[in-house]
Amino acid sequence: MKIVMIAARSDNGVIGKDGGLPWSMPADEAFFLNEIEGCFLLSGRKSYESNQGNTIFKDKQFVIITRRKNYKVGPGGEIAHSVEEGIALARHKQVPRRCVLGGGEIYRQALPYADELILTDIHTQVENGDAFFPAFSAEDWKLTQQEPHEADANNPFPYTFKWFRRQL
Ligand SMILES: NC(=O)c1ccc[n+]([C@@H]2O[C@H](COP(=O)([O-])OP(=O)(O)OC[C@H]3O[C@@H](n4cnc5c(N)ncnc54)[C@H](OP(=O)(O)O)[C@@H]3O)[C@@H](O)[C@H]2O)c1
Repeated sequence: MKIVMIAARSDNGVIGKDGGLPWSMPADEAFFLNEIEGCFLLSGRKSYESNQGNTIFKDKQFVIITRRKNYKVGPGGEIAHSVEEGIALARHKQVPRRCVLGGGEIYRQALPYADELILTDIHTQVENGDAFFPAFSAEDWKLTQQEPHEADANNPFPYTFKWFRRQL
């Protein structure tokens, strides 16, 4: 059963700034919420605590990765003290797929375990970003589908949804 990493990144690889997202892109938020429906979720503690996180985890089963002992999570949540522990816990869940939601630290450590990537490329350069999606090799990952969109009144930047599958 698959492990999928889902992220939105700028053209220069930025996913976060000052603890939040560097943009407001409602079309990507709607896409993201649809993609994680029915998933078991894995997240780093910092992303979980961001405002975005609180909405995302409502009524979901999930695991938060933290080094903190006795960390308390909301309903449906469990704790893991390493990425490997979180992945192992997720693999035991009877769900169609497991979705890694970041942030940067967790994407980097979880990439070796992922089977698929679902990325939204937000076509802008973000200055002073402090969280990044990890670089990955085109030899290891095949782009299977992409769907470009123009900017519009609600979404200030053009964006492209991309699906990658690990090359076996
Ligand atoms: N654009 C996107 O798609 C997207 C998605 C998600 C997040 N973000 C953004 O990314 C930023 C947050 O990313 P981040 O890299 O700073 O933080 P993060 O990956 O969300 O969380 C980092 C925390 O995870 C825990 N952790 C990391 N590695 C661990 C390990 N090996 N074992 C145990 N615990 C471990 C630690 O928690 P403790 O400190 O509790 O020990 C660490 O402080 C925010 O700006 C957020 O908005 C963007």
